Amino acid sequence: MARMMRLAMVVTALPLAFGAVSAVAAPIDDAALMTEAKALFEPVPQVVPKVSGNAVTGEKVELGRMLFFDPRLSASQLLSCNTCHNLGMGGDDNLETSVGHGWQRGPRNAPTVLNAVFNVAQFWDGRAADLKEQAKGPIQAGVEMNNQPAVVVESLKSIPTYVEHFKRAFPGEADPVTFDNVAMAIEAFEATLITPASPFDQYLEGNAAAMTDAQKRGLKTFIDAGCAACHGGVNLGGQDYYPFGVVERPGADILPPEDKGRFTVTQTAADEYVFRAVPLRNVALTAPYFHSGNVWDLNQAVAVMGTAQLGRDLSDAEVADIVAFLHALTGEQPRVEYPILPASTNATPRPVLMMPN
Ligand code: HEC
Ligand code: HEC
Repeated sequence: MARMMRLAMVVTALPLAFGAVSAVAAPIDDAALMTEAKALFEPVPQVVPKVSGNAVTGEKVELGRMLFFDPRLSASQLLSCNTCHNLGMGGDDNLETSVGHGWQRGPRNAPTVLNAVFNVAQFWDGRAADLKEQAKGPIQAGVEMNNQPAVVVESLKSIPTYVEHFKRAFPGEADPVTFDNVAMAIEAFEATLITPASPFDQYLEGNAAAMTDAQKRGLKTFIDAGCAACHGGVNLGGQDYYPFGVVERPGADILPPEDKGRFTVTQTAADEYVFRAVPLRNVALTAPYFHSGNVWDLNQAVAVMGTAQLGRDLSDAEVADIVAFLHALTGEQPRVEYPILPASTNATPRPVLMMPN
């Protein structure tokens, strides 16, 4: 009986082995693939990057971390940056579009804050030049935190521990508790939210064993099919803007007609339905996909990119390989200690809730 089973295994294993040989057209030439990849991509650095116009000091990062987790930046005192950019969940909320003040549903999917410091500009349409400009947006947006800069400053000034932290983070400033400095501190903290040492980074740095064969085939296809033309650099994206639907515009379920993307920023007809090529770092953690958040399956997102951006019907095997490669972009997640936040005082403005009808 045991012998029969062994025999059966050998018999079934043989065609499998041949099948495998013929499916893999050519063995992977790691040296060549690494050289090709190094010309197009860069690894995530192991050290916190410099931020233009904002020295990333330990004091600023500590304050920024408190602010990032402090729901008192929102009018309801219920929503923090971390609510929608959950650092335990890939730096986003894994919702189709975000839900903010008064349970209101926003118009777009939340991108991750991880590695956002490497993007050329922030938001799906690039309307904020950098993270300090970006941070002021959600605090004031009606559908997000719905607060006012003056109220934020009043709240922080009412809490002596915060005043101390601002003094230390912005030494020499007469009145350091300002809305601008809130944004500067958050930007400094966000610069620390980087994810180095993914299998892909290790491969780029010369470790051929860091990626599986499927991931390597996926990388090759990603380059050869033309994905890397838009998704290149350190973040595999986040550097430039392109029409969603260069070749074929996706249906309204994926590309809702009312969101015209970068057109709203530039008022130029050529920018209708133009969006930033999404950074693909940690993309396996950040479903659902696209600015509409209407696609949950990464395989489907990749297939859509093939037809919409490249006019190419990728085969199931190609899609599977690319998705395997995208999984190799998951890096070491930043270990962030949850801050102990100082208590409000009698002078702190009270939460303003808006209940859904
Ligand atoms: C209610 C949910 C919500 C809250 C709260 C929120 N965000 Fe966002 N965030 C979003 C959404 C949605 C977008 C995309 C908006 C767009 O592109 O128009 C976004 C975009 C961003 C981006 C741009 C990333 C990129 O790749 O372009 C950064 C950075 C960011 N938020 C940081 C923050 C910070 C810091 C806070 C707290 C001050 C915050 N967010 C609060 C939902 C939220
Ligand atoms: C012409 C430029 C361009 C090309 C080529 C391109 N993309 Fe994209 N990609 C974009 C843009 C722009 C978006 C954002 C679409 C939107 O508005 O939601 C995007 C979005 C994505 C997303 C969604 C990520 C997320 O977090 O929502 C994935 C995944 C993706 N691309 C993978 C690929 C793959 C794989 C290829 C090759 C088959 C490819 N892209 C080719 C420009 C491009």
